[in-house]
Amino acid sequence: MRSLSVSMPRDLLGIEGLPAASISALLDLSETYIDTNRSLVKRRDTLSGRTVINLFFEASTRTRTSFEVAAKRLGADVINMEVAASSVRKGETLLDTAMTLNAMLPDALVVRHHDSGAVNLLAQKVNCSVINGGDGQHEHPTQALLDALTIRRRKGKLEGLLVAICGDILHSRVARSNIHLLKTMGAQVRVVGPATLMPTDIDRLGVEVHYSMRTGLKDVDIVMMLRLQTERMSGSFVPSVSEYFRFFGLDEEKMKVTRAGALIMHPGPMNRGVEIDSAVADDLQRSVIHEQVEMGVAVRMACLDALIGGRRNALPGAA
Ligand code: NCD
Repeated sequence: MRSLSVSMPRDLLGIEGLPAASISALLDLSETYIDTNRSLVKRRDTLSGRTVINLFFEASTRTRTSFEVAAKRLGADVINMEVAASSVRKGETLLDTAMTLNAMLPDALVVRHHDSGAVNLLAQKVNCSVINGGDGQHEHPTQALLDALTIRRRKGKLEGLLVAICGDILHSRVARSNIHLLKTMGAQVRVVGPATLMPTDIDRLGVEVHYSMRTGLKDVDIVMMLRLQTERMSGSFVPSVSEYFRFFGLDEEKMKVTRAGALIMHPGPMNRGVEIDSAVADDLQRSVIHEQVEMGVAVRMACLDALIGGRRNALPGAA
């Protein structure tokens, strides 16, 4: 068994604080799984005998499916638990559910929750590895890793690239995790959006802030669009959808100021005609949106392998 060249923590709760060497090691390991996924027989027995529980307190299509496919391709037994948000009584129920599942001795819990910090809280109570599948507006580490893998494969590097993350920055855990990852790996990050959708602490994240797509997209290598997260908004953050699209929706015209060969990304699900025009979303020359989904499976295989595949414990000094 190959071991990782760096030690991994027990859990993957966020990108913040994860060293560049660990990020690179996870991306390198993900590369090996791209080949597995593209071959006729996609099954390995790396996680044979391990149990992975997907515990989702919030709606999800691609993330939950992607973790399920990833765990199954590595031979793990997978249980999916989707807890309707309305039936969740905060705090106590989350921890009660977690402790009940913990007593069944799973090897990993993949958790998505609508409250920022809920996954960290849960991780402190259980004995198994915990992977954050997205917590509130906080972090979505595997999304940032799959975005990085997609970019690294297309551009050959992350260091030195100019990346614009555009739209609803305020409510986006994808933006937060990507900012941490890209900056750790030496990329330059801009955030672009209306002032109403910009976090008040944005200056602390070490990014350039733009309130116009014309200046924000100028000479960028990567345009990362975000969904307008209306479910996290109380009150009105944008005047109207058509107004939002006019100023911040990505279309052919706005792409003109980017660097030649600039890539278009979106974590999904997309609101066509709100944050992105179909003509650019479906432009296979520049849009890598489906590639992001493919890379997502490889990245989640790598994360599961790194945390519960026996590599971590094989390492001297690993926690
Ligand atoms: C993202 C999420 O859930 O944070 N989606 C995803 O995981 N692919 C982004 C979003 O919902 O807009």
